[in-house]
Amino acid sequence: MRKQIAAANWKMNLTLQQGEKLLDDIIVLPHQLNEYQQAIFAVPFPYLIMAQHKIEGKKNVFIAAQNCYNKKSGAYTGETSVEMLLSIGVHHVVLGHSERREYFNESNQLLAEKVNICLENNVTPIFCCGEALSVREANAQNEFVAKQLQESLFHLSAEQIQKVVIAYEPIWAIGTGKTATSAQAQEIHQFIRSQFANKYGATIADNISILYGGSVKANNAKELFSQTDVDGGLVGGASLNAEEFNTIINSLK
Ligand code: PGA
Repeated sequence: MRKQIAAANWKMNLTLQQGEKLLDDIIVLPHQLNEYQQAIFAVPFPYLIMAQHKIEGKKNVFIAAQNCYNKKSGAYTGETSVEMLLSIGVHHVVLGHSERREYFNESNQLLAEKVNICLENNVTPIFCCGEALSVREANAQNEFVAKQLQESLFHLSAEQIQKVVIAYEPIWAIGTGKTATSAQAQEIHQFIRSQFANKYGATIADNISILYGGSVKANNAKELFSQTDVDGGLVGGASLNAEEFNTIINSLK
């Protein structure tokens, strides 16, 4: 069975002290994560070491960076390498979030390079894709997302692709309170899985976790996650509240 994942994306929020408290509050809450379930916290870079310490010894709980650079090391002021993340025990990275694509001009090609360097170092990319409102209104979301997958992921081998987690996040649903309906989510998740099936075969496609992101809350997580092809969520706003995120973790299949 493929992994069911509740991933928190703190974005550029919270001070160190607030972040520590939030993790403490979530971690003390009783989660019964089975072997197919994971909770992942994508925290700001300055908090990675703190967060990594906090989750030490917790089964199926991981810390992720929100980005990394596509080069091994060198004169790239302000950037963070995969090797640096590994050296502090971080094995997950969110890549290609729509905010990075929009505000930092991250292209499908650049993301392909970032995916490569992660996989070469055994770091799991949580690869984000998803369309803007104008694309959805033109009913062109499938073609749009397919292109993102083709240009950033389809050069990978069958072995590599199974190490990638996908997060489908329609931009029109991020931070807007406007969630995709569970039927809309299921429809495009099924389409995404079919793209992997066409390229890599049904068995491999079946092993790939596809998370939904965009205004996931405690009160809609269960319904969204109950869809056949929705394997959990990437959660922004609601991950900043311990009780909300705890309920979201407990909504995993
Ligand atoms: P949101 O953000 O849950 O606040 O909509 C999701 C995301 O951007 O990952």
